[in-house]
Amino acid sequence: MKTQVCIIGGGPSGLLLSQLLDLKGISNIVLEKHSREYVLARIRAGVLEHGFAELMREARCGERMDREGEIHHGFHIAHDGRLDRIDLHKYSGGHSVMVYGQTELTRDLYEARDRAKGQVVHDAQDVKPNDLDTDAPWVSYRKGDELLRVDCDFVIGADGYHGVSRKSIPADVLREYEKVYPFGWLGVLSRTKPVSPELIYAKHERGFALCSMRSQVLSRYYIQVPLTDAVEDWSDDLFWAELKRRLPAEVAGHLITGPSIEKSIAPLRSFVAEPMRWGRLFLAGDAAHIVPPTGARGLNTAASDIYYLYHAMVDHYLQGNSAGLDNYSAKALARVWKAQRFSWWMTTMLHTFPQNSGYDNELQQTELDYLLSSDRAKGVLAENYVGLPF
Ligand code: FAD
Ligand code: DHB
Repeated sequence: MKTQVCIIGGGPSGLLLSQLLDLKGISNIVLEKHSREYVLARIRAGVLEHGFAELMREARCGERMDREGEIHHGFHIAHDGRLDRIDLHKYSGGHSVMVYGQTELTRDLYEARDRAKGQVVHDAQDVKPNDLDTDAPWVSYRKGDELLRVDCDFVIGADGYHGVSRKSIPADVLREYEKVYPFGWLGVLSRTKPVSPELIYAKHERGFALCSMRSQVLSRYYIQVPLTDAVEDWSDDLFWAELKRRLPAEVAGHLITGPSIEKSIAPLRSFVAEPMRWGRLFLAGDAAHIVPPTGARGLNTAASDIYYLYHAMVDHYLQGNSAGLDNYSAKALARVWKAQRFSWWMTTMLHTFPQNSGYDNELQQTELDYLLSSDRAKGVLAENYVGLPF
């Protein structure tokens, strides 16, 4: 088949771009390796920047998000047995974030693509981009026993960290930067009322903890665990007991526990691949960069890539102007590195690092004390958390 844009990966990045391009009459196809059920079973992000929420509305996918999502004007930092509130609205100049799960957002995008009769191929195996450095790239894939081919103008690599797209960039062109943290996050989803109406990020000597939510009846909690731990090591009872230990007594006393409906461990890492464009291939989202989850930048940074790519494609096809495509990598990377900085800073300030010296620990505590004592420092935190401008 022939289309203008072939998108590899049917996660939030690929689906959002597909939907936005389609609304502008730019033809595209999405090739997704897994089934829809598999993609929708992954429990991931929960906090959306206001700019991302706006992009969802522009994609005509914001209706349920606006109805069921929650606007949060602040969050809390728990430390030394107490809670301090970061007033995002006040310190960011009137902005806030939207609490709405990636699973629901992805479901909304799939439904929008269905309504528009968009082409989303599931269980596309052996996806391989070809001739990316020519004017006639094409992508091959297998569906069952059938070998298929998509001829296109551009290929979008939105296939996540483990995808095939980034690996198509020649080794002498690709630069990769990585930082691996010596711990992971054990996450639990439970059908319980959240312990607090706003998120709580907790710094504790036993390790970091986060109280988040998907709705007023669905809670999401995380605790920092060593990389050597396996999910099987953590019964629900052990998880709840450990979470309570890391929260101020007053908060722990209100925690409603229940059976976990999902439990998984995510290792923490920072990663950036440069450039984000090679020939007719454009990388977006986790295919090009990963952040540790502290500060909720991952999905939001994927959305800013899509914002730049969408506008660049529209300028190219509708105005005959390719400057946006030429500048895409530099523009996206400038924002990507700011998200890297913020995620690294929040991770470093709030987690327990087993190898830290006494000096490192004193500095870490001072970083937090300074933040909580300075309106300007809170301003920097709030500006980054609600999302830097695109
Ligand atoms: P993905 O979601 O990884 O989608 C890529 C898709 O490509 C997948 O569906 C995959 O099946 C498909 N694919 C892979 N290989 C191929 C192939 N060869 N061929 C075809 N298809 C392929 N971010 C936030 O902003 N806020 C948060 O609160 C937050 N919390 C998080 C909590 C956890 C525990 C984790 C793990 C992540 C969190 N993130 C958060 C990060 C966020 O989930 C990711 O940044 C986001 O999923 C990136 O979307 P994507 O579409 O780029 O990649
Ligand atoms: C969630 C994850 C995060 O990394 C974060 O900073 C906030 C919320 C979540 O999954 O709800």
